[in-house]
Amino acid sequence: MASGSGDDERNTEGVSWRLIGPATGLSNKRCRLMYSSLGHSSDVCLFYVKGEFFAMDARCAHSGRPLCEGDIEEADGVLQVFCPWHDYDFDLRTGKSGTSLQQKVYEVKLEDGNVYVKHGSCLSLQPFPADPKS
Ligand code: FES
Repeated sequence: MASGSGDDERNTEGVSWRLIGPATGLSNKRCRLMYSSLGHSSDVCLFYVKGEFFAMDARCAHSGRPLCEGDIEEADGVLQVFCPWHDYDFDLRTGKSGTSLQQKVYEVKLEDGNVYVKHGSCLSLQPFPADPKS
């Protein structure tokens, strides 16, 4: 399979696999913020917990606080992140909460040692320039 084709473009048309980077480097932190080319509200958290990557919207479905700063706990085999603001829980795998809220989650795959996230915008570990024309 071709590698990297289309991943550097700011393609916002349709969902596709977005190359994030080598798994070895990404697995040394529990959560990283991935910036979206669509803007702040579409940023994504990349979690690495118990040898597995998970991706979900970075802004809490309740009031938009950053989930990357939340605590992660396991209960009955379910990995959850707890929002740092009001302590709502979200299943890392499904995005479901004990409340009625649902956090959007994204598929993650490992290929040739790299992490990919299926998303409708480009994702980057670095912020996108404020003015894409400059
Ligand atoms: S902002 Fe996350 S629980 Fe309220």
